Amino acid sequence: MTQTPDKSTPIGLGVCGLGMAGAVMVQAAAAHQGYALRAAADPHPGPRAAFARDFNASAYADMKELAADPAVEVVYIATPHQFHAPHAIMAAEHGKHIILEKPMALTLADCDAILAAVERNKVQLIIGHTHAFDPAVRAMRGMIAGGELGRLGMINSFNYTTYLYRPRRPEELDTSKGGGILFNQVPHQIDTVRLLAGGMVKSVRAQANVLDPTRPTEAGCIAFLQFENGVAASLVYGGYDYFDTDEWHFGIGERGAPKPLSHGASRRALAAAQEEAGLRTKTQAYGASRPDMPPSQPHFGLTIVTCAGGEMRPSKDGVLVYGRVGLREIALPKSAGMPGRREVLDDMAAAIRTGRKPVHDGRWGKATVEVALAIQRSSREGREIALEHQVAVDDSAR
Ligand SMILES: NC(=O)c1ccc[n+]([C@@H]2O[C@H](COP(=O)([O-])OP(=O)(O)OC[C@H]3O[C@@H](n4cnc5c(N)ncnc54)[C@H](O)[C@@H]3O)[C@@H](O)[C@H]2O)c1
Repeated sequence: MTQTPDKSTPIGLGVCGLGMAGAVMVQAAAAHQGYALRAAADPHPGPRAAFARDFNASAYADMKELAADPAVEVVYIATPHQFHAPHAIMAAEHGKHIILEKPMALTLADCDAILAAVERNKVQLIIGHTHAFDPAVRAMRGMIAGGELGRLGMINSFNYTTYLYRPRRPEELDTSKGGGILFNQVPHQIDTVRLLAGGMVKSVRAQANVLDPTRPTEAGCIAFLQFENGVAASLVYGGYDYFDTDEWHFGIGERGAPKPLSHGASRRALAAAQEEAGLRTKTQAYGASRPDMPPSQPHFGLTIVTCAGGEMRPSKDGVLVYGRVGLREIALPKSAGMPGRREVLDDMAAAIRTGRKPVHDGRWGKATVEVALAIQRSSREGREIALEHQVAVDDSAR
């Protein structure tokens, strides 16, 4: 395992995949004092050149070279879903700590293979970013665990987006290759409600839909999650670029920036595009545009938490608490960096420096994948699915 000498030395970060997610994490890491961007890997020369120029760092065409780079202590993996398992295992075999994007993998067997490589090589693994890292979600978990609003009863998570009509790689429209919302979007909701409700999902009943035969993967879903502690959660996702839940969230977009609502614009832009996959790299990869530091808190649609003594939801700048004596807002501190991603980086730094076990470790990530697969199976088989690999939230690790 790579050793980080002391707290004043920034942790060397390597980024595998300089696409949309990679570009956002690069910005988050550049704003984080605990990290130094040392290297990246991507087969596309454009984002590679932009990264090498901006950080005076190595940029490789292949993950193998990144994994072998001695300046890299942590690898953030933001490659297409089908590469998560091989890239994470390669990083672990080279003694690198790993931040692995959701979903951890596409099968439970691949999650187990990653876990085995991580344990064999004694490296740290965090599955993230997901919106469960959002400061508002963490604050709500703190209030639930502290019993401030009494017993937790239910959680409703709604998100309506442009998902299906953003430019997509071919495999993103093929469920068998990890495409569709069940692997890409719903894991944010699963991770969030698992964190809020304590982690242990008992069973899932769900129905997912494929409503556009020209883009034949799931873009809509309703799921009912029953937790072992009696809490119930509903997850609703609609990715057809009609209604947009950000209309219900103060006109603020997912990452916390003001969002002019423009219904149907993604579908229209896609219809006008010449070449879809190329459009994605041209507009979203690292160097194509610079993701702004958002002025407000990130969120993922509308998340309403119901406890015996009140209800809560993330707001523009914190958490709204609808209590017995009225409404109050808990403002969250505006600290430097990119909220959500900053917490991912903080958790990895704590794991490396102090050995603090992250909440979103490999077993946690596998449990979230198990729920996503159960949603798929429940929808296909028309029945409730019982879960077997769930893990509880360790609030001391949060
Ligand atoms: N947490 C979030 O909010 C969030 C947001 C977007 C995407 N993601 C996740 O990030 C991952 C990537 O998604 P994206 O939207 O950035 O996709 P993308 O297509 O925009 O980027 C993927 C990048 O990986 C590169 N790549 C492909 N094969 C590679 C290889 N073998 N080695 C190195 N790089 C390779 C591609 O060239 C591309 O630049 C997915 O797991 C997705 O679910 C997470």
